[in-house]
Amino acid sequence: MTDRRWDADRYDSDHSFVWERGLELVEMLAPKQNETILDLGCGAGRLAARIAELGASVVGVDSSKDMVRRASQNYPHIPFQVGDARSLPYREDFDAVFSNAALHWIQPPELVVESVWKSLKRRGRFVAEFGGACNILAILAAVNLALDAVESMGETVYRPNLYFPTIGEYASLLESRGFRVASAAHFERPISLNGGENGLRLWLQMFGLDYLDPLPPEQREYLIARVEEATRPALYHDGQWTADYWRIRVHAVKPA
Ligand code: BEZ
Repeated sequence: MTDRRWDADRYDSDHSFVWERGLELVEMLAPKQNETILDLGCGAGRLAARIAELGASVVGVDSSKDMVRRASQNYPHIPFQVGDARSLPYREDFDAVFSNAALHWIQPPELVVESVWKSLKRRGRFVAEFGGACNILAILAAVNLALDAVESMGETVYRPNLYFPTIGEYASLLESRGFRVASAAHFERPISLNGGENGLRLWLQMFGLDYLDPLPPEQREYLIARVEEATRPALYHDGQWTADYWRIRVHAVKPA
């Protein structure tokens, strides 16, 4: 995971859909009493706490110090650690590795899959959901066009660098490492953004820091306004912004 900066408070409250939608994935994980489970990319710890409530021992790992600090404050009974998903220190320690809305931030995916494999016991399961092919297509197209415009004004720009594989690519990657892919799905999941008229702006300010932060304030404002303008016909209706999310959801097993 990179040392991307996150605002843990806003992530947990203004963008609560991230962990609220993850509750379904916890159901798919179906944690059992006394299992040991790694929550990879645990954010502010909401889903780790839910897994612990269901009786499992959970460890949360995130690349963000701010997230880990916030998670540890919120849930002092759970161990949370700063760590890199590409080089986890675990060796057959976990019955399951769980990950919600994190893996699209981390490249190369081969290193993540290797790290998950090493962390799992034999017969352990990997249950993950993250952005798949076509995820935020309209938003990304508008961001890249706006970045082109900013660049043409002489500004140095940084591009979004996200991993949104097809289901075939990701299932193949898991199988090539030796996982048995028990289920894999790729599905559309439009997300209603909080914040009314400001919904997309707030989303960009939370999740677009990689390309917004390096810009001077007036270019940042220009970029946000261009993205709002370009996506409004498709994504803004009756006072509500909707983000065009597509998810990949997998359940894979490390054989005995
Ligand atoms: C997501 O799919 O959860 C996501 C992807 C990129 C930026 C923000 C969120």
